[in-house]
Amino acid sequence: MYLLETEKIVKTFNDTGEKLLILNGIDFRVERGEMVAITGESGSGKSTLLHILGLLDKPDSGCVRFNGELAPTEDKLLSKFRNQNIGFVFQFHYLLEDFNARENVAMPRLIGTGNRSESLRIAQDLLSSLGMQHRLNHYPNQLSGGEQQRVAIARALINKPDIVFADEPTGNLDAKHSNEIISLIEELNRDMKQTFVIITHDKSISSRMQKSYTMQDGALRLG
Ligand SMILES: Nc1ncnc2c1ncn2[C@@H]1O[C@H](COP(=O)(O)OP(=O)(O)O)[C@@H](O)[C@H]1O
Ligand SMILES: [Mg+2]
Repeated sequence: MYLLETEKIVKTFNDTGEKLLILNGIDFRVERGEMVAITGESGSGKSTLLHILGLLDKPDSGCVRFNGELAPTEDKLLSKFRNQNIGFVFQFHYLLEDFNARENVAMPRLIGTGNRSESLRIAQDLLSSLGMQHRLNHYPNQLSGGEQQRVAIARALINKPDIVFADEPTGNLDAKHSNEIISLIEELNRDMKQTFVIITHDKSISSRMQKSYTMQDGALRLG
């Protein structure tokens, strides 16, 4: 059984007056423990697909299954499902500026469990394991771009999600820090068997993944 499986995802946007067909019947599968890249030109629909895979947006037709099952549709249950099963890392870190690194990482767990001290303890352990033990009490604006993305990755991992979706996670970083972040993702995949779907337009990154798809004309093709 696939960890993630879609069936003929179609997505159009109509809000500009003309109908744009962005995703034209996408069938996409991810196995547990895989690390998959999606590349494609800007505007080809990569983020649109990722939002649908991550249950942040709905397709016009088609469906997404996790471990063979449809996610709940009711808002509150869906939020809970996302909180517990899916991690996100975006190009911009979206850390909360008024909270330090440890608190930012703890947040999804605190929301899920209501247990503040346990959430903070696990956040601290996780940040330490990602080489950030010296930055626990730093606020986002006191961290470098690479460190901010490390915190964002820790936050994505704190609820031990089945899958982490990363949309251009290194898009804002220089080559050195970009390499560090991708190496970290590779380690998490190798050592923790963490499943990742990574969107990138950087061929040097996609070539490091086990599988790489290209998005073009509303379809995904392998390679
Ligand atoms: N909410 C929206 N309304 C109308 N058009 C949109 C919307 N979101 C994205 N698009 C269009 O859909 C296309 C794909 O966008 P996107 O998925 O962000 O591409 P990518 O991530 O590959 O750069 C683009 O042409 C974009 O302008
Ligand atoms: Mg995008």
